[in-house]
Amino acid sequence: PTYKIGYFVGSLSSTSFNRTLAKALIKLAPDTLEFNEIPIRDLPLYSQDFDDNYPPEGRALKEAIEASHGILFVSPEYNRSIPGALKNAIDWGSRPWGTNSFARKPTGIVGASPGGIGTAVMQSSMRGVLSFLDAPQLNAPEVYISFKPEAYGEDGEVKDESTKGFLSHYMAEYGAFVERVLDVNAPGHI
Ligand code: FNR
Repeated sequence: PTYKIGYFVGSLSSTSFNRTLAKALIKLAPDTLEFNEIPIRDLPLYSQDFDDNYPPEGRALKEAIEASHGILFVSPEYNRSIPGALKNAIDWGSRPWGTNSFARKPTGIVGASPGGIGTAVMQSSMRGVLSFLDAPQLNAPEVYISFKPEAYGEDGEVKDESTKGFLSHYMAEYGAFVERVLDVNAPGHI
């Protein structure tokens, strides 16, 4: 079977390392995964005032999450936490109350930073948020990328063989995780 993966890039930067990382991950993913970006740029800041009449951007976001078998977050760390634009998108997807679009969606969290800890603290914050939203998460392997721009091509080509192998391994594990969560007949279920 083919699984639809909706992915979020947590950066709005035109030169985003995380967008390059997302391209690399998509290139290295198993053929059974089909990727669609879920855009976050045009969302207004969420307010409960929208709950009675969700604007088209909010509805489109929820529909895109609901139409995905799995969700992948590729995000920077801002001030040791989740970038505001991404957190805003998650808040939109979680509401109106009782219609949380993330519930039971298998998720993966990865990120890149020029710094040494490679978004580890953002990812830890994300795990708390996604747990509250009842989204199962791939626990391991963890992907904390200390981003070296020279190691990637514009189109997401990964020049370093060991990084390439590691990212391929992650995507294979992520694909198997999505399958496991959705399919009781898949390996991993008893
Ligand atoms: C950062 N950056 C950063 N890096 C990090 O490793 N930990 C952090 O807490 C922060 N905090 C932070 C806050 C803000 C507001 C900005 C703009 C940046 C640096 C960040 O990792 C770097 O700008 C990356 O290039 C951001 O990822 P993208 O946009 O290139 O994908």
